[in-house]
Amino acid sequence: MFKLITEPNPILHTKTKPVDKIDQSIHEIVLGMRQIMKQANGIGLAAPQVGISQQIAIVEIPLDREDNKSKKNEKPLQLTLINPKITQSSREFKANLEGCLSIPGIEVNVTRPVSVTINYLDLDSMRQTLTASNLLARVIQHEIDHLNGILITDHGKAQPIKDESN
Ligand code: CO
Repeated sequence: MFKLITEPNPILHTKTKPVDKIDQSIHEIVLGMRQIMKQANGIGLAAPQVGISQQIAIVEIPLDREDNKSKKNEKPLQLTLINPKITQSSREFKANLEGCLSIPGIEVNVTRPVSVTINYLDLDSMRQTLTASNLLARVIQHEIDHLNGILITDHGKAQPIKDESN
């Protein structure tokens, strides 16, 4: 049903529209996105990457990844972010290599705030606030960039991925 959109494609560079009602169709989009992300072994995906220009993003950090190691609950961290907005960013920035499922084979050294606070709606239309740092904050900012039509290649120079296992 859904297909992963890769570069070059103008939808990846287009600012998305806010979701005005979280109905069945939004639930179906999120389910489709989860499937695509799982197949691609991703830790985040934004709706434009499946051809839908709406403010929907998902994040799933597996247990064995940094930031999710010491968590007491042994479940992978799974978030659905609808109409997310960054309300606060740390003054501390860090650079790290990022890849993107829509730009296979390359990575970019991207400098971002180490932690952010976001405001969003979940799938039950509840408004949520979340403060995240390190890897989670980076993935969230990467996905919110997608919703604004911004890719990692807008942040810096693309370089070939050296370690394919990462
Ligand atoms: Co991406």
